[in-house]
Amino acid sequence: MQTQVGIIGGGPSGLCLARLLSQAGIKSIILERQNREYVEARIRAGILEQGMADLMRKAGVGARMDKEGLLHDGIVLTFDGREERIDMASLTGGKQVMVYGQTELTKDLYDAVLKDDNITVIFEARDVHPVGYMDGKPKLEFHKDGKQTIIDCDYIAGCDGYHGASRASVPRDKLKEYERIYPFGWLGLLSETPPVHEELIYANSKRGFALCSMRSHTRSRYYLQVGLDEKVEDWSDERFWDEIRRRLPEHIAEKMVTGPSIEKSIAPLRSFVTEPMRFGNLFLVGDAAHIVPPTGAKGLNLAASDMYYLSTALIAYYKEGRTDLLDRYSETALRRVWAAVRFSWWFTSIMHKFNEDPIEHKIQLAELDYLMGSTAGKTTIAENYVGLPFDPTFE
Ligand code: APR
Ligand code: PHB
Repeated sequence: MQTQVGIIGGGPSGLCLARLLSQAGIKSIILERQNREYVEARIRAGILEQGMADLMRKAGVGARMDKEGLLHDGIVLTFDGREERIDMASLTGGKQVMVYGQTELTKDLYDAVLKDDNITVIFEARDVHPVGYMDGKPKLEFHKDGKQTIIDCDYIAGCDGYHGASRASVPRDKLKEYERIYPFGWLGLLSETPPVHEELIYANSKRGFALCSMRSHTRSRYYLQVGLDEKVEDWSDERFWDEIRRRLPEHIAEKMVTGPSIEKSIAPLRSFVTEPMRFGNLFLVGDAAHIVPPTGAKGLNLAASDMYYLSTALIAYYKEGRTDLLDRYSETALRRVWAAVRFSWWFTSIMHKFNEDPIEHKIQLAELDYLMGSTAGKTTIAENYVGLPFDPTFE
């Protein structure tokens, strides 16, 4: 087999990248380890920055998102019994975020990709190995139904997430990895209940962090900070609802509509970055290169700038024979990656409970009090939350 761009991983990064390339007539093959149902069932965050929403439109898959997505102008922070709104739109010259679940976004991408003549998707591709990319002869080796197949390609995009094959194939002395694992996780619950508030609530409390999010006007997504040794089985729905109410100011907790959970799971929190993001003709994209804790919902939005830079660079190569943007990919992508890693780490650090030492909570409250009393403080949260811009010189 042969193609222009070989893509490992059919998550949002691989799918959206393939569509962006296809819009410019570039052919790709996507190798996905799982089947479509499995990929579509994964529950992830649901907040899109304008940059990610624009990419979906550019990829020709924005219609349902624009119809069903909810635009938000602000977020709410609660701490010390207080409720403080950050009016992101007025602090950033009108920028908003869109509430649209990653599950829905992935469905829309698959609907388009599977009808696209420039894209081939191979599900249940096993033992995928990118080879030859340091010698200018990139190939993807894999097994399908027990048979080995090889794809010759010009470039390989590693869009296969944190546990994928692309980063793992790089010799250890060619990359540097930076990692922090946080001493807690997030227990998430999805329910068919109206959200407690029309905007997202990020709650700092003495008992730990909580988040009130949503998927629609009738479906809510809630999270609780929990210890790393906690088990989902020990969290009945009742225990979850009781705990989240205790972490919110009373006047908000009173309004909470509870109901049976549709899904419940615990996710660990980590900050992780690989440098560089390019190895010869292999480019890492999205979770394959970086992970952020979910505070601020930057995961997918960070994959967005990678997809934007890589698609722009590949289009410049195929249309104009230019390689300058491919050469700038890693450095340009990493600059925005580190900015989001910093924000996600900082937002995590002011909102979570790290230990039992009461001075820590007092200092967090002092910082939150300062930030909310300062236009500069609120603006720094708003600017980062709506998303830092893509590099305008990358063209
Ligand atoms: N071979 C083929 N496919 C693989 C392999 C492999 N060895 N390893 C992983 N995959 C597939 C996974 O099954 C998954 O479908 O690669 C895909 C990676 O998808 P994600 O983990 O979702 O990563 P990405 O597409 O970069 O998405 C960005 O945004 O909200 C965040 O972390 C969240 O998924 C999210 C991300
Ligand atoms: C979510 O809706 O799942 C969500 C929202 C905001 C976050 C993290 C997760 O910061």
